[in-house]
Amino acid sequence: MPVMTLQIGAEPEIRLPVRPGETIDAAFTRAGYARRRKGCRRGGCGQCLITVLHGSVTDDRPVAVTVLPPAQRAVGGALACRAVPQGDVVVRADAGSIRCVSPLQKELALRELARITTTTVQEGS
Ligand code: FES
Repeated sequence: MPVMTLQIGAEPEIRLPVRPGETIDAAFTRAGYARRRKGCRRGGCGQCLITVLHGSVTDDRPVAVTVLPPAQRAVGGALACRAVPQGDVVVRADAGSIRCVSPLQKELALRELARITTTTVQEGS
């Protein structure tokens, strides 16, 4: 299961699990995070723009070049509502664009991450 390291502005990094095939936006939501601007959630508005600093993502559906131009994609631009991590990723979001709205859901996601991390270590030993 991929692990997403999330950087929101200057806040400390947060590590969250991403289930296979899950978009970054879906992983945010499942972990109790919400974007300040909801946007269309269909790849049509660009409100969910993030930057992929490390790792790679693929879009779960086509994204219009008018929403995410190739030049922006080339420097790591991705739409959280469409981007599916292809392994561990590090992503950055603008300060204030994403915030935790459910500490309980966040705690559950962090437990899931701890469980998969422990499992991975046990399998590797
Ligand atoms: S929310 Fe509109 S493009 Fe992602």
